[in-house]
Amino acid sequence: MASARAAEAFKARFGTAGRQFSAPGRVNLIGEHVDYNDGVVLPMAIDRRMRVWASPRGGRRLSVVAYDFGEEAELDLDAPVRQTGTWRDYIAGTAFHLEQAGFRLGGASLLIASDIPAGAGLSSSAALEVAVGFALLTLAGHEVDLLALARAGQAAEHNFVGTRCGLMDQFVAAQARAGRAVRLDCRTHAFDLVPVDTTHCAVVVADTGIRHRLATSAYNARRQECELALAALQRRRPTLSSLGDVAPDELEAATAELDPRLARRVRHVVTEIARVEAFAQALASGDWTRAGALLTASHQSLKDDYEASCPELDALAAAAQAIPGCYGARMTGGGFGGCTVSLVASAALETFLRAVPPAYERATGRLARLWVVTPSDGVGEALPTQPE
Ligand code: GLA
Repeated sequence: MASARAAEAFKARFGTAGRQFSAPGRVNLIGEHVDYNDGVVLPMAIDRRMRVWASPRGGRRLSVVAYDFGEEAELDLDAPVRQTGTWRDYIAGTAFHLEQAGFRLGGASLLIASDIPAGAGLSSSAALEVAVGFALLTLAGHEVDLLALARAGQAAEHNFVGTRCGLMDQFVAAQARAGRAVRLDCRTHAFDLVPVDTTHCAVVVADTGIRHRLATSAYNARRQECELALAALQRRRPTLSSLGDVAPDELEAATAELDPRLARRVRHVVTEIARVEAFAQALASGDWTRAGALLTASHQSLKDDYEASCPELDALAAAAQAIPGCYGARMTGGGFGGCTVSLVASAALETFLRAVPPAYERATGRLARLWVVTPSDGVGEALPTQPE
């Protein structure tokens, strides 16, 4: 098993067993591109994890093995953090921001290994930030403040990676629970755990295989468009603090004078926030048909109004939606490549898994990878006796 080999590699490299920590990847069910607009989101953690083996080593240096890449780095907690454009930035950035938040850390030996597909929009980077941050805080004897941890990861993205992301990914990696999705109000950070019963309906993630070089700049551009739209709307309504404040019935009046492109961005944000609430209700009442229709409507809005999709995401969502028993499908995460998420009736799952890849290949000439995912726990320490 890969994680047993990684544990052995830690022991061979550092001469001790190390404690094992881990944080999950995530899939966002609905509520896309609304976290940085003070909206409500509904992600869940998936059963794929970033694992960190760690032991304290005195001093202020981190010795880090990136097991999957066969690479190693030394980071000095007292040296200024320099951006490298590599995995080191997530670790150095998170450690830096935890210390900025008042959590003094100590030197440590770390080994990192993951089974979250990288770059697929399943938030392997948030999982890395949250798992390493949790390990460093625990080794240093701090009681872990999960919100502060999530914020340190987000700040690492902003200041050392260059993505001006919201808090959703780090928050769910920190707070998720098995069998639940996390409904998070991004304005107040209040959240509740919403049961996701996968007995009758499976959650399927499908990877387009597209990794867009410009995804980060396109993401940041969307965020900036929201800021421009907000500034324009505030001229008429100075009390407006975010796009999440615009009620659905005010939408038309509010956007009448906006540049049409910005008006479409606002329309996505406002209608998507309304869809999250409707989706949560559908989930609670087991109304999969309604929940699926909301997913499909979300995709359409992300495609047409937010322009965060791409031809391959559209083809994969369409291939999924065409299968009888698929309640709905949409792109998930930041977009411009990466994955879709589908809700599929259990009885139709086998057909779905068999039929979607060839349909996608016919449409795009590309191979799709599919995973049936289950809602999983957030960050934590694996007990030595616990099988992983
Ligand atoms: C990325 C970001 C999140 C969120 C989504 C879009 O995953 O990291 O903060 O904005 O995109 O919903």
